[in-house]
Amino acid sequence: MKRAVYPGSFDPMTYGHLDIIRRAAETFDELTVSVLNNNAKNPLFSVEERVKILKEATKDLPNVNVDSFSGLLIDYAAEKNFHISVRGLRAITDFEYELQIAQTNSKLSKGKLDTIFLTARLEYAYLSSSSVKEIASFGGDISECVPDFVAKMIYQKYNQKFKGEPNEQQN
Ligand code: PNS
Repeated sequence: MKRAVYPGSFDPMTYGHLDIIRRAAETFDELTVSVLNNNAKNPLFSVEERVKILKEATKDLPNVNVDSFSGLLIDYAAEKNFHISVRGLRAITDFEYELQIAQTNSKLSKGKLDTIFLTARLEYAYLSSSSVKEIASFGGDISECVPDFVAKMIYQKYNQKFKGEPNEQQN
């Protein structure tokens, strides 16, 4: 059985993440999306909230489950017996950062944890959790970036009004 982990901050999950999740779920028999518990990043959403969002967004995907982890990815992967980590690539700038992480993980795990990259679909290539948060903090429209229920949660965090129309492209 082919299993993989898709680690990330997911603060919050965007349609870009969801697209990678869907495509990875078609490639692997079982995919675990795992939220990094790292308060140093000063996240907008708690780990519990991020896990809840991911669970709701992936509830129609039977071979996807959601978890969280702290510390090094290689230690978590060893504990859960994951040998493949999935990451999305949007642009060449992502590649440099991701290549370094992938090589570090490969070296630290003595080759036991490999990384597979999926390239972001063009319509999501511009998307990042940070830009979604910045747009939302000023009450801008994020309806094409995240599912409606996530947009509402983000606006609430910033005490902003939900301005975007419900997205036709709900996932
Ligand atoms: O969504 P992000 O913030 O780009 O995800 C980054 C993540 C979680 C994949 C990466 O920071 C990570 O795996 N952190 C755990 C700590 C670790 O294993 N570091 C060693 C690799 S540099």
